[in-house]
Amino acid sequence: MANGENVADGIGITPRLADRLLAAGVDAITLGNHAFRRSEIAPYLETSELVVRPANTSSETPGRGLTVVTAANGTRLAVINVLGSLFLHPATSMFEIVDGLVEEANRETPVVVVDVHAEATSEKAALARWLDGRVTAVVGTHTHVQTSDARVLGKGTAFITDAGMTGPHESVIGVEAELAIRRMRTGMPVRFVTAQGDVRIEGAVIDCDAESGRATSIESFRELVS
Ligand SMILES: [Fe+2]
Repeated sequence: MANGENVADGIGITPRLADRLLAAGVDAITLGNHAFRRSEIAPYLETSELVVRPANTSSETPGRGLTVVTAANGTRLAVINVLGSLFLHPATSMFEIVDGLVEEANRETPVVVVDVHAEATSEKAALARWLDGRVTAVVGTHTHVQTSDARVLGKGTAFITDAGMTGPHESVIGVEAELAIRRMRTGMPVRFVTAQGDVRIEGAVIDCDAESGRATSIESFRELVS
């Protein structure tokens, strides 16, 4: 799985880039608060069964927040994407809808992964604890900084607060540092440009029992690319 919300040069995703990620071997793509920054993705999401946007957006929003895909080894994997509340203003709280989504997913498969796209570490931890024993993993995204708390919770749900950022780490969360600093120092509009240096792949590897869906391990990783 990959969160692809900012794969279009730092903001949003296009159909072509979604297809490229899928062709590279990704089984399912999750999104986030920038899902529709590139408007051409909207019709794509209406028909895609492999790309999900946050489930707790408006009922008018194109696309879906839950999908079930078949992984390379044949395992059926349910993928749920939700948005936290702090700074992101979802249409409804993720806690209002997540139980229904997990039930729907479990009717198809015991292996369920939730991408919780949220600013607040506390919201992500609370969701993971709430879902412990009911899903395989809760993986946090959005804050771009990999956290050192990957662990399997008591009832068998793997959790990490943030899987990290695949992108240029010589930056301010992906943006040329000088531009981000200038905007913050002056309060004036500054056009952001994606940085180039210290590109790393970051994420987490989760092992689970395919029968029960319970996680047996989670390990975060970071690898230098260039
Ligand atoms: Fe985000």
